[in-house]
Amino acid sequence: MRGLPPAPYTCRVIAPQLLVAPSILAADFAHLADEARAVEGAADWLHVDVMDNHFVPNLTIGLPVVRSLLAATVLPLDCHLMIEAPQRWGVGYAEAGAYNVTFHAEAADNPVAIARDLRAAGSRAGLAIDRDTPVEPYLELLQHFDVLLIMTIKAGLGGQRFLPELLEKVRTARQHAASGHLELRIEVDGGIDEQTVAAAAEAGADAFVAGTAVYSAADPAAAVRRLRQLAGDGRQLASDRPSPGGTD
Ligand code: DX5
Ligand code: ZN
Repeated sequence: MRGLPPAPYTCRVIAPQLLVAPSILAADFAHLADEARAVEGAADWLHVDVMDNHFVPNLTIGLPVVRSLLAATVLPLDCHLMIEAPQRWGVGYAEAGAYNVTFHAEAADNPVAIARDLRAAGSRAGLAIDRDTPVEPYLELLQHFDVLLIMTIKAGLGGQRFLPELLEKVRTARQHAASGHLELRIEVDGGIDEQTVAAAAEAGADAFVAGTAVYSAADPAAAVRRLRQLAGDGRQLASDRPSPGGTD
């Protein structure tokens, strides 16, 4: 409305819902189907960390396990590929039925071409930015993506301490997405828990990966609901803040 300050992203009526994605990296790998079902009805996505022992030192799970999980849960799978050669391996996850396939900018020569292939194969496309990678060189590519995953730790291991300084990248990306009217999920991954989730939401994240905070809780579904509620508090804080330059 004329005369009112422009609404910041966070208080638009159309601000997308906040998503919580438990990471099964912190679950019991011998009982993955049960661990997935433990958060059904509470979680929005199930985050699956694929590590190849090359892009990161750790080795986790790959396409056969993802296929089994797809048959075992109704939750959309959010596959986070910490692998080399995503142009070669990524499409298989999309074809299998993953809801979202996110690969690392550091591993990709032509991120836009991979995004196009993933979308053509039926999934959303996500771009991940690791701890030591600046976001600025990728801002102009974001129009080709559905998700930007900003690591809030160094990729490769669960249970690490959240690095608050990395939220600056979230702010930069959110500002860019808002000014370009991009429909972009900004997902944060690493050290997200009851102490840190609100700050991430306040910075502009709207999807929250949580491994340890969910699967070390006595009631994982309740932990997911609590994280979403605290994220909502963070978003509210941001929307209560006067928008920069918004006095006309
Ligand atoms: C680490 C993974 C994360 C991990 C997060 O590289 O990408 O998804 O599971 O675990 P927590 O929430 O324990 O930091
Ligand atoms: Zn992850």
